[in-house]
This record gives sequence, structure tokens and C-alpha cells, in this order.
Amino acid sequence: MTRRELLIKIAKRAWWLLFLYPLYRFIGAHRFRPPREVRISQGLAVGEHLVEEDFVLFQTQNGPYAISRTCTHLGCTLNLLLEEGVFACPCHQSRFDLNGRVLSGPAKRDLPLFEVKPMESGKGYVVLLPAKVL
Ligand code: FES
Repeated sequence: MTRRELLIKIAKRAWWLLFLYPLYRFIGAHRFRPPREVRISQGLAVGEHLVEEDFVLFQTQNGPYAISRTCTHLGCTLNLLLEEGVFACPCHQSRFDLNGRVLSGPAKRDLPLFEVKPMESGKGYVVLLPAKVL
């Protein structure tokens, strides 16, 4: 058997291996989302807040804190109802207070808080969103 014949024979039997790498990449890329830094270059005065896609950043007398906007029931994005002092879920009406504690279900877990650091320049914030395993 020549080398050419051997390579053709291997290629005929192992063609399905060509699909493994793209499949591995697809699954790997969608199973783990690395930690993310969100940089906010604007400063907030005490009592102000900023609504972002994934979190709400509050500036208090004790410092800033960021709270997730993802409902702990099934993952809908929460609305901030500041006049009522709650986060409300549009999907199944769970409600959370401004510290993330569950006020009414069906959600059972409190909202997670994210770490907030001051920006290196002194004005603004860096919010650290944790890694996610989907
Ligand atoms: S997803 Fe928010 S209460 Fe169900």
C-alpha cells in the first residue's frame, strides 16, 4: 500500500473527525462566558443611580454598589420602579427591594451584588460581572 492509498483510506474512515473541532468550539464558546468588566466613565452623586443593561449602579453615602437586573426565577430583565423602591419582573411579577432581597415570588433567591471599584482616573467606576456557566 502506498502512502497516498493509506491517506485516502484514513480520510474515508475518519471524515467525521472534521466535525468534532467545530462542535467542540461551539459548545465551549456557549457553555462558559468569562468575567467581564464594565467601565462607566461618569461619576454619580450620592443618591443618583445609573441603569445599565445587566445591572443598576447606585451611589450611596457608604459607597457605590451594583445590583443585577437578571431575575433569579427564570432570568428575565428586571425593571427598576424607583418611585416604589423595587425591582419588578415583567414575566412572573417577582419583586425585589433596592438591596436585592426578594419581596414577593415566585423568585426565591435574592439578586446578586457585583463588585464595584473606582476607575483608575478617579472619576467613574469599574463594575465586575462574574463569569457565567450557562
Ligand atoms: S422570571 Fe422573574 S419572576 Fe419569573
